[in-house]
Amino acid sequence: MLKLAVFGNPIKQSKSPIIHQQFAAQFELPVRYTAELSDEHSFKQDAQRFLAQPDAVGCNITAPFKQQAFEIAALLSPAAATARAVNTLQVLEDGRLKGFNTDGGGLVNDILAVLDSISGSSVLLIGAGGAARGVLVDLLNQHIASLTISNRTLENAQSLADICNGLSSNCKVTACNFADIPKAPFDLIINATSLSLHGDVPQIDPGLFAGSALAYDMVYGDKPTAFLTWAQQHGASQIRDGLGMLIGQAALSFAIWTGKQPDVAPVMQLLREQD
Ligand code: ATR
Repeated sequence: MLKLAVFGNPIKQSKSPIIHQQFAAQFELPVRYTAELSDEHSFKQDAQRFLAQPDAVGCNITAPFKQQAFEIAALLSPAAATARAVNTLQVLEDGRLKGFNTDGGGLVNDILAVLDSISGSSVLLIGAGGAARGVLVDLLNQHIASLTISNRTLENAQSLADICNGLSSNCKVTACNFADIPKAPFDLIINATSLSLHGDVPQIDPGLFAGSALAYDMVYGDKPTAFLTWAQQHGASQIRDGLGMLIGQAALSFAIWTGKQPDVAPVMQLLREQD
């Protein structure tokens, strides 16, 4: 029996246990995946104790512990090193912990389920918090032509742009406030702010959606978020919420732990039916 878990606070709402049980069933793998509540003082100890169990192969980490998980990882994937945040820990054979960040890969794979390619695209990333930071490397790895990072607080957008400009990439990366987003058309507009959690939308010019191929919201719910409805009303060709990103990051974690690539489509359908 492989032991896996997700650590977070709160954690009751997490869909990770059901997602990973579905993945395990696809391969008839015996897996026990639990949701573990922790707190900021005990997280590192809780995770290390869980991972020290003989059958534990790894764990996921969600808010607010991704930075602490980064700190306990002895080795890091490039995406985790850049994000300074870890959503997946793997126990290596020598007992050391390797940290990954599969959020960006989950996002990109979900976008590529809708658009054939985003190579050469101009991308607008709205928001500059942990969610935005976690997807930078994977977006740049798609050889996008330009990345405009727009945020309420310009300094936060500028620090993400500085991170991108420190990576070897030919992408043109710029930072701006909501009011200063260039009018140039964007192929892909991604909302990485937390505004959708409150039913709000960022104060950007809705004219920016006209002609865009896809508006993506990292948040998901039982109906399209306010951001997606607004984007569609203003001309975005397609809209997509973050459920596919959630399942996509889980699939990449599952592959890290088990070496098996699960099929995300049936799990997506199951979760949509449950909403
Ligand atoms: P997460 O881990 O979800 O990214 P976070 O790191 O707290 O959470 O980042 C939240 C993001 O949503 C930030 O980009 C934040 O903008 P600031 O950097 O200006 O704080 C954005 N955000 C949150 N509330 C907002 C609001 N009322 N208006 C505009 N942007 C908001």
